[in-house]
Amino acid sequence: MDITICPSAEEASRLAGEVINNAVRQKPDLVLGLATGSTPLLLYKEMIAACSNGLDYSRVRTFNLDEYYGVPPDHPQSYRKFMNDNLFSHLNIAPENTHVPDGKARDVTAHCAAYEAEIKAAGGVDIQVLGIGSDGHIGFNEPASSLASRTRRVTLTRQTISDNARFFASADEVPRYAISMGVGTILEARTCLLLCFGANKARAVRGAIEGGISQFNPASALQLHPDTRVYLDEEAAAELDLKEYYRWAAENRPQ
Ligand code: PGA
Repeated sequence: MDITICPSAEEASRLAGEVINNAVRQKPDLVLGLATGSTPLLLYKEMIAACSNGLDYSRVRTFNLDEYYGVPPDHPQSYRKFMNDNLFSHLNIAPENTHVPDGKARDVTAHCAAYEAEIKAAGGVDIQVLGIGSDGHIGFNEPASSLASRTRRVTLTRQTISDNARFFASADEVPRYAISMGVGTILEARTCLLLCFGANKARAVRGAIEGGISQFNPASALQLHPDTRVYLDEEAAAELDLKEYYRWAAENRPQ
């Protein structure tokens, strides 16, 4: 893993934004895997700023990690709406190029298989943006998700429901299920950008980077991925044993 500890989430997001914006410059029809939540918001601002300054996103294709099950696209808390509001409506991307699982799919199994097939038909994900849950989830792959899992319906943990309750009137209103790309799906992306900010992620970050590879912490599967770049703020990096080495390695990357 290529680990960068930054003084702030702003700086981390600027670096991750450069990776994505440069990739769009090089490949205008880039396939991006995208995430929701608080974590990628500053990164999305970097993409929006680049687009306002002339970077063409019109041919970029996107696939989101997940969506709440049972929630229609126009629901105020749907991930489709989150993406439209926080990113897509501010880019010149073609709406038909943006994909988010359909939380109201009638035949979930068929929908999940079709989502996987669409990713494949697009040529696979070039760069996958990831946050981490306080329980180590990536996408909605909760602890005990198979590290070979594919897109499917999943049951959220109580921890995730309580973490996400801040967006709903109460924890009772948070959906119990979601549709999520699997860990195996995520591992097929050519590059993964894992962004982790804040003290409440420090334990999960330590498990993901320095713990054993385990379905107990699904983000730890990224240790098997050949090009994962991790961007941390100081708070999220606080519990890492080899922090000083990661800083040294980042300052002395082979050119
Ligand atoms: P957050 O969520 O960005 O809102 O902290 C991350 C996640 O649950 O993957």
